[in-house]
Amino acid sequence: MKAEATHPAGQPAVIMTDVHKWFGEHHVLNGINLTVHKGERLVICGPSGSGKSTLVRCINRLEAHQQGTIMVDGIELTGDSRNIDEVRREVGMVFQQFNLFPHLTVLQNCMLAPVWIRKVPKKAAQEIALHFLERVKIPDLADRYPGRLSGGQQQRVAIARALCMTPKIMLFDEPTSALDPEMVKEVLDTMCSLADEGMTMLCVTHEMGFARQVAHRVVFMDAGSIIEENTPELFFTHARHPRTRTFLEQIL
Ligand SMILES: Nc1ncnc2c1ncn2[C@@H]1O[C@H](COP(=O)(O)OP(=O)(O)O)[C@@H](O)[C@H]1O
Ligand SMILES: [Mg+2]
Repeated sequence: MKAEATHPAGQPAVIMTDVHKWFGEHHVLNGINLTVHKGERLVICGPSGSGKSTLVRCINRLEAHQQGTIMVDGIELTGDSRNIDEVRREVGMVFQQFNLFPHLTVLQNCMLAPVWIRKVPKKAAQEIALHFLERVKIPDLADRYPGRLSGGQQQRVAIARALCMTPKIMLFDEPTSALDPEMVKEVLDTMCSLADEGMTMLCVTHEMGFARQVAHRVVFMDAGSIIEENTPELFFTHARHPRTRTFLEQIL
């Protein structure tokens, strides 16, 4: 069975073609070819240092690739800042570290980008923020400061904050790895509910239960390359590459 068979048959949301990236001498992305369709949910896994974060950060130009092309929703990412701004309006990102502003309340954190970048009037931005805080099930925390929240709550604020910009694509870079185990589930549940709504998602994660439940496709990276990709079912049961099998043995 080909992995493509299970993709939603949407238009491509992200197309990476022969993408290379170096940090100095270090070849960190080594010819990445990856197409993610609208509505598709992709899980990216692989050992530490294999280039997973760099790959997703290239998609909203937090890192610049040096060779190859990246198209996001039909826009090519080049050095042109207009294209970069356009792509960033479409792409939300959630990091391992929540990166909330400590001196702003939860509500203010969520209103910041809509008001300053989208020029949404404050009252409307507040309504949007409350809507998405409701969505991640923490509307009652709107007036708290991040320092008074648990890690799981902070990460849900970070997800709500990204959603307030109404992105078409969500990137997650190990969103649960900094959390205490008892908080992982509440964040994964939030991500599952986003998936239910048809959000296009690229998730770097080692939560293989999540991958099984939610992903259409899993890709495995090693040393800057995608060395294996498949549906979750086949990925976990029929990994072809010895390095994938070693990795799965370690984490499962
Ligand atoms: N800003 C940077 N400057 C130099 N090297 C970096 C930088 N960011 C990442 N790297 C290196 O690039 C490689 C891939 O990193 P990363 O994409 O973070 O991998 P992963 O997310 O899979 O752990 C690693 O060897 C890392 O040390
Ligand atoms: Mg990483």
